[in-house]
Amino acid sequence: MQAAINYPLDWLEERSGLIGGVRYFLFRKVPGDINWMQTLGSATLTAFLVQAITGVILAMYYKPDPASAYSSIVNITDHVTLGWLVRGMHRWGASVFIILMFLHMGRVFLFGAYKYPRELNWIVGVLLLVMGMMEGFTGYLLPFDQTAYWATVVGINLNGTAPFLGPFLAQVLRSGGEISGDTLSRFYSIHMLLIPGGIMALIGLHLYLVVRLGVTSPPWSKEAAGMEPVETNGHRPGVRVGLTRPVQRGANGGGEA
Ligand code: HEM
Repeated sequence: MQAAINYPLDWLEERSGLIGGVRYFLFRKVPGDINWMQTLGSATLTAFLVQAITGVILAMYYKPDPASAYSSIVNITDHVTLGWLVRGMHRWGASVFIILMFLHMGRVFLFGAYKYPRELNWIVGVLLLVMGMMEGFTGYLLPFDQTAYWATVVGINLNGTAPFLGPFLAQVLRSGGEISGDTLSRFYSIHMLLIPGGIMALIGLHLYLVVRLGVTSPPWSKEAAGMEPVETNGHRPGVRVGLTRPVQRGANGGGEA
């Protein structure tokens, strides 16, 4: 039985190194005093994956043209098997995704995890936040009912008031001078191809940086603040190590007197 499981895994590992990569990602060391709040990033990732899966299912039934968009939504809700559930998960999940992103960002801010050397990951996070909100904005038009139409009018007019670029931006978003079928196609394409692709690429970069830089200890961590005396190889115990003189966690060396 074990051999039957190991054979394909070994085959893949020998040719790609993928299994080792996944093992490295899952079993890497993190500080011993991390906190539940540090799961908010993974919760955001889960919410994004739910959006991606339910979005693919919705796209199988949705029709992005003004004459049939609304009726295709009604069809999904009333006739497609479990369509109401998938649509409800996608609609409510959008808010969950945005709320989790803000909570995760708040955690990163309160823990000071945006500071050196994680500034770049904060910048990637800001791009993810902007793209997440653009995803919400473009998705809102898709049912093409009165609420969707007028909310989009307000959103585009708001963008139109931006200095210098505003009118150009409004024109690009509308795909012309008026909201029309072209606007719907444009929003659909941005909503299901451009932004999800960008978000996936940025999440990849975000996670690469998390693994490369390691996870921050909470601000109350005595060890990370250098307040916990750490015994070092042959040197006097009680010396302050931590942010300024990092020691290898779990090991008895690395610092100096
Ligand atoms: C699609 C949205 C996002 C996903 C899926 C995501 C995912 C993650 C994950 C899984 C982690 C590691 C675990 C954790 O600290 O919770 C993380 C860390 C981090 N995230 Fe995000 N994140 C997102 C958005 C953001 C935003 C909006 C910001 C800030 C503007 C941000 C900044 C950071 C930083 C600086 C870290 C490193 C924290 C540390 O080392 O303690 N992320 N993110």
